Amino acid sequence: MSETAARRDAELRARAEIDLAALRANVRALRERAPGSALMAVVKADGYGHGAAPCARAAVAAGATWLGTATPHEALALRADAGVPDDVRIMCWLWTPGGPWREAVEAGLDVSVSAPWALAEATEGARLAGRPALVQLKADTGLGRGGCQPGADWEDLVGGALRAEAEGLVRVTGLWSHFACADEPGHPSIAAQLARFHEMTAYAERQGVRPDVRHIANSPATLTLPEAHFDLVRPGIAMYGVSPSPEIGTPADLGLRPVMTLSAALALVKQVPGGHGVSYGHHYTTPGDTTLGLVPLGYADGVPRHASSTGPVLVDGKWRTVAGRIAMDQFVVDLGGDRPEPGAEAVLFGPGDRGEPTAEDWAQAAGTIGYEIVTRIGSRVPRVYVNE
Ligand SMILES: Cc1ncc(COP(=O)(O)O)c(C=O)c1O
Repeated sequence: MSETAARRDAELRARAEIDLAALRANVRALRERAPGSALMAVVKADGYGHGAAPCARAAVAAGATWLGTATPHEALALRADAGVPDDVRIMCWLWTPGGPWREAVEAGLDVSVSAPWALAEATEGARLAGRPALVQLKADTGLGRGGCQPGADWEDLVGGALRAEAEGLVRVTGLWSHFACADEPGHPSIAAQLARFHEMTAYAERQGVRPDVRHIANSPATLTLPEAHFDLVRPGIAMYGVSPSPEIGTPADLGLRPVMTLSAALALVKQVPGGHGVSYGHHYTTPGDTTLGLVPLGYADGVPRHASSTGPVLVDGKWRTVAGRIAMDQFVVDLGGDRPEPGAEAVLFGPGDRGEPTAEDWAQAAGTIGYEIVTRIGSRVPRVYVNE
């Protein structure tokens, strides 16, 4: 089968439609929230499941001047193939020993450094590449995950970076950190992290660091904490039109529009008698004579198995609920006697305009967060880009 035919076939089953006009509008809305700061579009994890390169291009078209990824491989792929101008800076932050430091320096990436081993490897990469590494020093201001601890560790790291800078092997381009609880407005850790960030950046600057950018704001901080915007904001989830948390608001409250719509074509509609067990384990039994619809998407496609018996789906204008277990490739909805044609559209989530559920509804049904819902949609589901 040709690639085109295979793709057409895959799209008959299911699709994740990606509305790039919505993404551009979200980026513009986020820039309005932080008018004095540059915007880094976070496109890690394949653009939170939306496709890194098309989302990167759309974000840049809407004014993002930086792109952010977790792994260096994600960043290198963007630099090589995303079709974004060379003056768009690309930063990556999740390094492990032995990583592609030389390639990153050659590609002009900004690399995050949290520890002496990473500074040593960045410096060696710079030696091999014959040009300075663009290094952003990451402070652990309280998240307790990546980043360098305050105090002696930070003093050592800053001192080492300045020595490497004096040798021409490094340019310290950024000082940065990440919040633990920005999605819980008023959480005491927010003010504590901001205070620590001020202290740690001030220390580095007193020692002679002259960063291009200082940054700490993810989506919730971009949306709710102007005092955290500094020189650059780093939103991810909000750009895709998904709320960081119910406490922050719905996408509509935040002036954001969901970018992904996940839908499938019903593979079967059939009449069954009452008392009929449905799907593995028979966790659902038909309450009476009814019709069942088969949705050809399962946990291998990223539909969370935890949403068995709870996930919502719009079929023929009505909300239905997953009946019983979600299997690897398929699940069933009870259509209550309705008989849509096979092939009728089942919408799992989207912006909500047509009455369909949202990613937040699925997050609630599965006991997780909207981030996980969109990010996990699998590679078997074709992404269909609209409004490019
Ligand atoms: C370091 C860093 N910055 C920014 C983001 C973007 O966060 P959010 O998607 O909440 O905006 C992430 C995502 O987890 C991250 O790891």
